[in-house]
Amino acid sequence: MNQKKLIAEGAEVAEGKRPKKGFLQPSASSASSAVQSMVDIPVIAIDGPSASGKGTIAERVARALGFHYLDSGALYRLVALAAVKEATRLDDEAALARRALHLHVTFEGGEIFLFGQKVTEAIRSEECGIGASRVAALPAVRAALLSRQRAFRQPPGLVAEGRDMTTVVFPDATLKIFLTASAEIRAERRYKQLKEKGINANIRTLLQELHERDQRDSARSVAPLQKAADARELDSTGLGIEEIVRQVLDWYRQKVAGSQTL
Ligand code: DC
Repeated sequence: MNQKKLIAEGAEVAEGKRPKKGFLQPSASSASSAVQSMVDIPVIAIDGPSASGKGTIAERVARALGFHYLDSGALYRLVALAAVKEATRLDDEAALARRALHLHVTFEGGEIFLFGQKVTEAIRSEECGIGASRVAALPAVRAALLSRQRAFRQPPGLVAEGRDMTTVVFPDATLKIFLTASAEIRAERRYKQLKEKGINANIRTLLQELHERDQRDSARSVAPLQKAADARELDSTGLGIEEIVRQVLDWYRQKVAGSQTL
């Protein structure tokens, strides 16, 4: 299954639309005793600051295990983009929460469509990331996205990444990771990503924006970015992608083996 497509599927279902053929049913709403209980479905939850590499790592780990993948930040970015397009103020909490509840998103062939319009690149812009960080500070928006995110917990398992996956959305996750990297390394990574996309960027400005976003994501009163007490910290500074993925997979296998011998 195309892992990216899951966001669209969860979104459609959460809107109360009749699932189309092949679309996922949110597990929370299933009444069938034959359906695997939600708590039995493994979740690897990865949190960490902006540009710490969560997306790349989560996607790779999901692929290695054949699990689904949830990019929760994309949902906040989509809310911010929809708000900008509709000229909704980024502090109008009630309007933004309504938008979050009724967000029509589809993913096709690696592209993201918001209300039928392609937004794949648009949601990755720095402007959209900053807007996402602002709307993500609003409790009603977070509440509106909560069940939508939990609906991604589907067999055979889920790798979910964001800021509050380990603390709020999946507090019972099988494995919790707090992925960090120095701000300088993160700014460098973001700079390279933008360059590759042909987007002009200034590394000093990026560093400054990262600091501001870290501050906003960590200092907000609702679901702030913080390391869960039972999360394993993984500092990716100086590590390659393969090493990080291997470490996460090792921890996951140890965790599963440990729980089977109990
Ligand atoms: O991971 P990202 O850069 O795509 O996230 C965009 C913004 O959304 C980020 O500044 C914080 C917010 N966010 C959040 O508050 N909670 C999440 N689970 C994911 C993202």
